[in-house]
Amino acid sequence: MKLETERLILRKPRMSDWKEYYDCVNNFQTCSMMKDFKWPLDKEYVKSKIKRAKEEWKKEKPQILYFFIELKESGKIIGDVVLHSINNWTKELITGSMIHKDYRRKRYMHEAKIAMLKYVFNEMNMEKIISDVFVDNLPSNEAIKKLGFKFKEKKIRWSTSQATGKRHDVNFYELTKEDWKKISSKLKKELKEKIKRLEK
Ligand SMILES: CC(C)(COP(=O)(O)OP(=O)(O)OC[C@H]1O[C@@H](n2cnc3c(N)ncnc32)[C@H](O)[C@@H]1OP(=O)(O)O)[C@@H](O)C(=O)NCCC(=O)NCCS
Repeated sequence: MKLETERLILRKPRMSDWKEYYDCVNNFQTCSMMKDFKWPLDKEYVKSKIKRAKEEWKKEKPQILYFFIELKESGKIIGDVVLHSINNWTKELITGSMIHKDYRRKRYMHEAKIAMLKYVFNEMNMEKIISDVFVDNLPSNEAIKKLGFKFKEKKIRWSTSQATGKRHDVNFYELTKEDWKKISSKLKKELKEKIKRLEK
């Protein structure tokens, strides 16, 4: 299973990816904006995460799917897109993501998520995708809005970063299949133009 875009490949994690993946996450600011990484980052934890991710991909009904983001031009792993809390009954799931700090603001996550949304709605047949973002995570709030997700609610002191122990208020956003159908062509066209501008 892999998804291909203009600059990226989204694919299942491999054990041999562990060092590059570790380098993506191994940054205090990055870990502090996510829930599940303690600080300092533990190599064995990262390896066990990849091991579990590989096992989950083999299941008939996985609860969580990790896509590692590979840069086509170098073959390097620069981040991930995660689909979790997959509910085949309500046809909803939650997404999370991360990009190596040196590769941010190049629309890589935007590009990866457009491919992922196509997969979620067309291949997995989901009806709704949810994103839960710490209120004080400006880049992530902005990035998810740019993809057409709509703000639904804010939950107070809802979630804790294991890296800092801090409890965060969390913004919840949603994108429905109906809304995706309306905006996907526009998003793809706009991304193509942005990539051209970035290449200049
Ligand atoms: C959030 C994150 C994944 C965004 O990845 P990215 O590849 O830098 O995002 P993109 O380049 O695709 O940005 C898409 C749009 O999001 C918005 N955006 C992204 N970063 C932003 C920032 N620092 N400030 C303001 N807007 C930002 C912009 O509108 C941007 O489009 P533009 O650059 O054309 O203006 C990245 O910052 C990250 O990994 N952060 C640490 C981990 C994390 O917070 N994960 C999310 C947990 S919910």
